[in-house]
Formats: sequence, structure tokens, C-alpha cells
Amino acid sequence: MIPVPRPSRRAGSCFRTARLLLCATLAQAGLAHALDMEAARVKAQVCFTCHGEQGISSQDNTPSLAGQPDAFLQWQLVYFRSKTRKSEIMGPIAAGLKDADIRELGSYFAALPPPKRPDGPDPDPQLATLGAKVAQANRCYVCHNENYLGQQAVARLALQREDYLYKALKDFREGRRTGGGVAAMPDAVYKLSDDDMKSSAHFLSRMPQP
Ligand code: HEC
Ligand code: HEC
Repeated sequence: MIPVPRPSRRAGSCFRTARLLLCATLAQAGLAHALDMEAARVKAQVCFTCHGEQGISSQDNTPSLAGQPDAFLQWQLVYFRSKTRKSEIMGPIAAGLKDADIRELGSYFAALPPPKRPDGPDPDPQLATLGAKVAQANRCYVCHNENYLGQQAVARLALQREDYLYKALKDFREGRRTGGGVAAMPDAVYKLSDDDMKSSAHFLSRMPQP
């Protein structure tokens, strides 16, 4: 095991496991470049209108970005830019991003604190119980990691917006969303019913945090 450096806000791009090797090499070469959160924030300002100032979205069908794995965010921006992932909204935005912008924006949103559990009691605890069973039975955690916190190029699902989770699952099942070369998600969701998707989205969007 490579020792994991203590995360610090200034070293946002250097504490993600996937980048440790690169960071170590850069540090050795004396070129270590800590993410400048202030500079990145200025660049990210255009994203706040839809994704929220803290990367927590309050807009319908628009995902929160805060606390997503760095690599996941970067890959999605690359997919939007190459139109592998189609979106009338994100396509034109990503088209204007250079590789360096994508790295900076990915690291910035990944370093922000993830969404909190919605306040108040669950309006439909039975649906949550059902959704937990669907997620367990379909072994979603195998890729999405323990507690659905995501890892590397695999999205964090815990406390993502419920409407967006449902939309994303439907997009994968109907073939509207493709991403990486491996058909991981289409394979995982083709047998899910609409009800399975609704309940798992409900469960994940307000699941208890460790
Ligand atoms: C006008 C609104 C709008 C703006 C501005 C915007 N986005 Fe988005 N973004 C969206 C919507 C809507 C989606 C969901 C697209 C879909 O799945 O159909 C999205 C999806 C994403 C995703 C995929 C996340 C996931 O969980 O799948 C990333 C990453 C992202 N946006 C990053 C950015 C960044 C970085 C910026 C600023 C440079 C930005 N967005 C600006 C509306 C916006
Ligand atoms: C074999 C690995 C694998 C399994 C199993 C899997 N996923 Fe995924 N999932 C991924 C990957 C990889 C992505 C990112 C997709 C991309 O890059 O296009 C993803 C993306 C998603 C997204 C979109 C998140 C976002 O923010 O855009 C949702 C929602 C999701 N998965 C839910 C599930 C659910 C629910 C299950 C179980 C029914 C599941 N996944 C099982 C690998 C997997």
C-alpha cells in the first residue's frame, strides 16, 4: 500500500488514490502543483447556476457534483465533449473545455463536501426498504463501492438527487446514455423495472451515512 497523504483543501488533486502515482512523480520532480481552490472556484462559477454554488444542485434532473470521485467527473466531461454522452445542455459547455480545465474542475468539485441527507423523516420509508433490497440483490455496491460512495470512474450514488438518479437509470436502460467502452451500467439495469428504479433512487437519495 502506498501511504495515503492527509487530504488538505489545497491538495485537492493530490489525495485521490488514482492520482497518487502521478502526484508522487510530480512531487519528486519538484513540480507538485496543488489545486488552487480559489482559482478553480472562479473557473467553476459558470457551473454554479445549475449545479449549485457548493456543487449541491437544487435544480430538477441536474446532478450534484460535490464529493463525486475526481476521475468520474473528469471522464463524464470528456464523454460530453466527445459527444459519447449526449446532452443538449452539457455538450456545448464541455466543448469549450480544455484538458487542463477538465482536470481543474473535476478536482474542484470532488474536493467539496458531499450532499447532506435531506432533513426530516423519510416520506416513504417502505419505498426505501424496497430500494435497499433492489440495490442489494443487483449487487450495485460491487462497482459503486461500500455505502455507494463511488470510486475512480464509478459514480457516487449516496445522497444524489432522487429525480436525477431515476432519470440516469432510465437513460441507461433505454440506451440514451452511454459512457465508457464497457457496458457496465446498461448490463446492470436492463432487467430493472420502473418500480425497481424508483425505489432504488429513493433509497440512495436519502440513505443513512456511515
Ligand atoms: C445550464 C445548466 C448547466 C450548466 C451551466 C452546467 N451544467 Fe453540468 N449538467 C447539467 C445537466 C442538466 C446535467 C445532466 C445531463 C443529463 O444527464 O442529461 C449535467 C451533468 C453534468 C455532469 C455529469 C454528472 C453526473 O453525475 O453524471 C458533470 C460532470 C457536469 N455536468 C459538470 C459541469 C461543469 C464542470 C460545469 C461548468 C463548466 C457545468 N456542468 C455546467 C446542467 C448544467
Ligand atoms: C459493473 C459495474 C457496475 C454495476 C454492477 C453498477 N454500476 Fe452504476 N455505474 C457504473 C459506472 C462505471 C458508472 C459511470 C457510467 C459512465 O461512465 O457512463 C455508473 C453510473 C451509475 C449512475 C449514474 C450516476 C451519475 O451521477 O451520473 C447510476 C444512477 C448508477 N450507476 C446506478 C446503479 C445501480 C442502481 C446499480 C445496481 C442496479 C448499478 N449502478 C450497478 C458501474 C456499475
